[in-house]
Amino acid sequence: MVQKLTKESTVKLRNGEDIPVIGLGVYKNELQSCHDAVIEALNVGYRLIDSAAVYGNEDICGKAIVEWCEKTGHKRTDVFLTSKLATTGSYEETKAAIRSSLHHCGTYIDLYLIHSPAGGKEHRLESWRAIEEFIDRGDIRGAGVSNYGIKHLEELFASNPRYLPVVNQIELHPFLTQEPIVDWCREHDIVVEAYSPLTRGKRLNDPKITRLAEVYGVTPAQLLLRWSLQKGFVPVVKSSHKERIEENFEVFDIELSDRCVQKLDQFNENWHTDPTWDPTQSD
Ligand SMILES: NC(=O)c1ccc[n+]([C@@H]2O[C@H](COP(=O)([O-])OP(=O)(O)OC[C@H]3O[C@@H](n4cnc5c(N)ncnc54)[C@H](OP(=O)(O)O)[C@@H]3O)[C@@H](O)[C@H]2O)c1
Repeated sequence: MVQKLTKESTVKLRNGEDIPVIGLGVYKNELQSCHDAVIEALNVGYRLIDSAAVYGNEDICGKAIVEWCEKTGHKRTDVFLTSKLATTGSYEETKAAIRSSLHHCGTYIDLYLIHSPAGGKEHRLESWRAIEEFIDRGDIRGAGVSNYGIKHLEELFASNPRYLPVVNQIELHPFLTQEPIVDWCREHDIVVEAYSPLTRGKRLNDPKITRLAEVYGVTPAQLLLRWSLQKGFVPVVKSSHKERIEENFEVFDIELSDRCVQKLDQFNENWHTDPTWDPTQSD
């Protein structure tokens, strides 16, 4: 029997760490709004916060997490913080970028991702080597990749890394199911995180989605997040509104039928929220 997901559910990563099954993303969320969103999310029960150097809010996230833990008596280890390397580069450039992220976060990083494979093979592999050094030191607990296509993953595995990636974070929703990459990750024990799980709001009013949401008596956002969870992905969803942060976490009492999940799978159009950007194809 498949175990029922709850608000406390986590997925075991290959490094032994537990990642919460859903997270709050903070892309394009800055200053007070970002701080309030993180605090609100933690109060509601989210335990995964997904930041990145390029979002310019690592410091806000780090501070909000520490502040919330102090105020509520939680331990830092109760929260899972992700950040990302802005661009791949040389070994030394990457080390400097990681030091900067650690400085801004003000705390260790649970999961550090290479944000995108852009930059070429040499830089991808050098960056990975630098990240490994910070895992040895304990400043980074686990490392992963984002926007990696199969060729980038194969390249990394072929380089005999000391640590293998625990996560690949890619854009995923019913209009972009990226099955070959997802299957590759599953076969190699890499957890798949789904970014832009709500299509950045662009397809929430699609009649195919609203019709199914109505059948289940849920909102379109909840339908998409539930699809993501039942596919076994870890969705990271962004909102800067209290009510939506709550709504997006109220997905544990919903159960889509297998038929509904398959129907949603069939909506795949290889449609990217940014039609000009498919990083999984980078050289
Ligand atoms: N690795 C990467 O390259 C990458 C790329 C993109 C995103 N990400 C990560 O994934 C996270 C989520 O992706 P995303 O921000 O692109 O898009 P998303 O989560 O799919 O959608 C966010 C948009 O949907 C709106 N929204 C949120 N909840 C809603 C609800 N219940 N009903 C209606 N609208 C709702 C938000 O507006 P309000 O804020 O106004 O509520 C926002 O405009 C990011 O924040 C980031 O952490 C990673």
